[in-house]
Amino acid sequence: MKKLIIGFTLVVAVFLLYGGYIYENKDTHADEYISVYEEVEEVTVNKFENRRSEYIEGEKPLYVDGILLVNKEYRLPRDFSPSGGKLEDEVIEAFKEMQEDARKDGLVINIRSGYRSYNTQKQLYNTYVRRDGEEKANRYSAMPGYSEHQTGLAIDITNERTNRSIGSWFNDTPQASWLYENAYKYGFILRYPEGKEHITGYMYESWHYRYIGKEHSKNFNMNNLTLEEYFGIYEE
Ligand code: DAL
Ligand code: ZN
Repeated sequence: MKKLIIGFTLVVAVFLLYGGYIYENKDTHADEYISVYEEVEEVTVNKFENRRSEYIEGEKPLYVDGILLVNKEYRLPRDFSPSGGKLEDEVIEAFKEMQEDARKDGLVINIRSGYRSYNTQKQLYNTYVRRDGEEKANRYSAMPGYSEHQTGLAIDITNERTNRSIGSWFNDTPQASWLYENAYKYGFILRYPEGKEHITGYMYESWHYRYIGKEHSKNFNMNNLTLEEYFGIYEE
């Protein structure tokens, strides 16, 4: 009888210990999975949500991960005017470097349009609306306060024909191809890529480049990625 009791106790003990082991491990893994998942969610979604709450329409611009975001949803204050109303020095430096390397490859690139004030953009936009109507103009021109040109971080690039207004003729130039392949190395991104009008709200602009710095632009190597997708604020 004594042996039976000892044997039974042993079986119960082994069962409890083994059961506990399985339970504990299962639980630990579940915890790990949940915490990793939550971490990822915080990095991608909550960070943007937090920044967005700092945005005050018409008073404060929106920066996400140090990048100024201007699109049809987020606009700039009317008097926002960086570097005293011109392109940021860093942008000019990066462009010069890019221009020099394009020259080594036998191509001339120049800036056709850089910084534009709120009022300049207003005049331009109104001219386009008068010419083409509001619906059409909205596909290629930003309303005042909504243009990246007001940030001092965006440029329209052209070839040696600096007097010619920029437009779709630029798409087929070797300069456009060269920029598409190389601009990311200098901190620039093609801001309105082909086939992304449903995201950016603008037609393809082979000439409009936005400076975001090399750290970020290296992720935009010929992949037609938009800033909106990069920040995870647009999902197909
Ligand atoms: N063409 C671009 C969208 C602008 O007007 O800023
Ligand atoms: Zn532009």
